[in-house]
Amino acid sequence: MTDYTIALFLHIVGALGMFVALAFEWVAWAGLRRSGTVQEARGWLGLLGLVRRVGPASLGLILVAGLYMTATVVGWTAWILVGLASFVVIAALGGISNGRSLPAIERALQTDTGPISDALRQSMSAPILAASVRVRTALALGIVFLMTTKPDVVGALVVIAVAAAVGAVASRVGTPPRLAERAARAGRP
Ligand code: HEM
Repeated sequence: MTDYTIALFLHIVGALGMFVALAFEWVAWAGLRRSGTVQEARGWLGLLGLVRRVGPASLGLILVAGLYMTATVVGWTAWILVGLASFVVIAALGGISNGRSLPAIERALQTDTGPISDALRQSMSAPILAASVRVRTALALGIVFLMTTKPDVVGALVVIAVAAAVGAVASRVGTPPRLAERAARAGRP
């Protein structure tokens, strides 16, 4: 056992934590969108509270352990630089999408009672929220591929481009606004 293997272990624990946070976030937003009452929605909001603790802690662990391994043994290879850039995109996308929508939703759920209002349902179903978690999950899987296969610069860029494309396609399929649109179109004469 060396410092390096301990760092690798912590790095992978961080990666596992990040996927747990992404899964919780995915489920919590789906639960919020399906909620019929404010009471029901508050339960799902609690799960997002957990995401806000597990997510940043996991990202911190990934970054610190990753930088340590890079600085001490591996060096600044192409797959690390592309992985680091994609990691920054994941962190920024999560911060922007949730940071923009969550405070207003939290405020409304604290003050409202009874059935969910149309305005609140609309903000909880904003396409950016579903898209953000799907794109981040796809990018994270792309990074796992990079970290395990260690391609050259072209390979690394292709992997991340494919991951981003898969995330973008997943964002357009099966999200509530899309399903609602499809249902509306199907109902048209
Ligand atoms: C979402 C972000 C990330 C995930 C999911 C992730 C995942 C992984 C995984 C699964 C491994 C193990 C690969 C293996 O042993 O074959 C690994 C290794 C590694 N990662 Fe990451 N990583 C991420 C971000 C980063 C970042 C930002 C850096 C650098 C700043 C980094 C640097 C490294 C290094 C140096 C290794 C060791 C490779 C080796 O021992 O051959 N990772 N990563």
